[in-house]
Amino acid sequence: MLQKLENIVNSVESKLSAVNDNNGLEDARIEFLGRKGLLPALTSEMRNLTPEERPAAGKALNQAKQKINALFADAEKRLSASTTADNGPGIDVTLPGRKQNLGSKHPVTKIIDECARVFRRMGFIVADGPEIETVYNNFDALNTPKDHPSRDELDTFYFDDGRLLRTQTSPVQIRVMENNEPPIRIVAPGRCFRRDTPDATHSMNFHQIEGLYIDKDVSLADLKSVLLTFAHELFGPDVNIRLRPHFFPFTEPSVEYDFSCIMCKGKGCSVCKNSGWLEIAGAGMVDPEVLQNVGYDPEKWSGFAFGMGIERIAMIRYRINDIRLLYENDTRFLKQF
Ligand code: PHE
Repeated sequence: MLQKLENIVNSVESKLSAVNDNNGLEDARIEFLGRKGLLPALTSEMRNLTPEERPAAGKALNQAKQKINALFADAEKRLSASTTADNGPGIDVTLPGRKQNLGSKHPVTKIIDECARVFRRMGFIVADGPEIETVYNNFDALNTPKDHPSRDELDTFYFDDGRLLRTQTSPVQIRVMENNEPPIRIVAPGRCFRRDTPDATHSMNFHQIEGLYIDKDVSLADLKSVLLTFAHELFGPDVNIRLRPHFFPFTEPSVEYDFSCIMCKGKGCSVCKNSGWLEIAGAGMVDPEVLQNVGYDPEKWSGFAFGMGIERIAMIRYRINDIRLLYENDTRFLKQF
């Protein structure tokens, strides 16, 4: 009996080592383990043994069964591994396809791209600056008085080391001028941060696009023509612009500029609060102090700068009535752009 068991185990082993497909494996299974197979036949032979012989034989039978099962498991593993290697991973071609959702550009990114494209055609190149800035670049070099309210901790996010999250893209002006000689024509889109209470038109984190033009004999008329061209490119030839006197520490004179309302064409509606005009941003002639701070001779060079809110333009362009929609990442909203 013991000899027969050993023979079976040995022949299972040699048979399985020769098997190289699933059919062969199945044949071997039937030959050894099937209802009329060799192992069940031996099991029934147990009946013919004497009661003294049975315990040892039973034990040997169990050991043989375990060994044979292990041999089959190994063979199965070997076959499935080689099938995978030969035929690639098991792909079920009958499964229905999975829908891939295609993303799209965020409306803020789209407006940045569009603005950059318009200014590039007017000869501006795109510049970049860090979101963490020095107090010098964000305020001092831009001629901001030491007691100016925008420096307050209630308005500006400061780090422990004295640096800050830039409150405007204007520090990029300083970086560009410090590292380049005039003439200069750049636009700098980017993220800005202010400690505002969020509401329909305010966010602590928003985007601006800065413009800077430095050359000989630059005038306010040049600024106006660049802004008008920009307005036409973005909102069509019917849009008009107007400049209103304003104050910024780093421009003199300073202006705020408006586009005529694109909804009512200047007649007055709820979007422009019946004024016929939409406030777009600030601008002005670069203050001689600022030119001096970066080592330019104000007698020789002059220029203009402007900065505008990207979200503001996006909201006008896409008729969005709450700035917070732009940051919620709700795909039902974002899918529309
Ligand atoms: N930095 C100003 C702001 O954030 C905008 C501005 C830029 C004004 C350039 C003048 C010149 O309000």
